[in-house]
Amino acid sequence: MPQPPNSVRPELVIVNDAAALARAAAQEFCRCAADALAARGRFSVALSGGNTPRAVNSLLANEPKDLPWSKIFIFFGDERHVPPDHPDSNYRMANETLLSRVPVPESNVFRVRAELDANAAADDYDRRLREFFGIQIGAWPRFDLILLGMGDDGHTASLFPGSAALQEQSRLAVANWVEKFQSYRITLTFPVLNHGAEDLFLVSGDSKSQVLREILGPAPKQAAYPAQMVRPQDGRLLWIADKAAAHLL
Ligand code: 6PG
Repeated sequence: MPQPPNSVRPELVIVNDAAALARAAAQEFCRCAADALAARGRFSVALSGGNTPRAVNSLLANEPKDLPWSKIFIFFGDERHVPPDHPDSNYRMANETLLSRVPVPESNVFRVRAELDANAAADDYDRRLREFFGIQIGAWPRFDLILLGMGDDGHTASLFPGSAALQEQSRLAVANWVEKFQSYRITLTFPVLNHGAEDLFLVSGDSKSQVLREILGPAPKQAAYPAQMVRPQDGRLLWIADKAAAHLL
């Protein structure tokens, strides 16, 4: 496991329950968006997959009527190696809970084309990321916000313990073989996550509590989990956890 880069200290906000976490996350999304739009006239955000973001996405689809979706650019932290209409697709989840319910232009949504061969999908995503951010090899995109979850094994995005992508230091996105699922995932790499202006972890439920203690508790285990390797070098690292996930802290 690569050593975490030196960076800002993690901030932790503990909220009562999953509903409060969704509210806090939606508020943070809107705050980040307002800041980015005021500063640069656009907001680039990488959505997380899994279940926790569902409630956040639904709130974003319903509440803030004044978000200028034409200036909001949507990416994905990772994607399963399935077509976009597959039940496991992170794009499908985001589309059902948010994208199909707000007036975001289709051209503003950078779906991982996971229906392709896994490496081709990663290369395609890497290319489109470079085009959007106007960067060459060796430079890194600076997302305004990267939403992340954490598994009970300490993975984040599709950076799983023991997987090859943990070592990737030059590409923006890679195909990563995940032994436990016997399948590929496409994922943003640590350098991309660690160049974000704000990385926001959303962690809910007791199943995450032991790993969260080992990452954010009084005696953190050294470099034990991929989620610990997310340390934005010049950005904010914010963890929002509900009491069920944070009760051992
Ligand atoms: C994915 C996610 C993954 C997720 C964690 C937590 O594709 O599944 O990117 O990293 O965030 O597994 O998932 P839950 O929010 O469902 O606990």
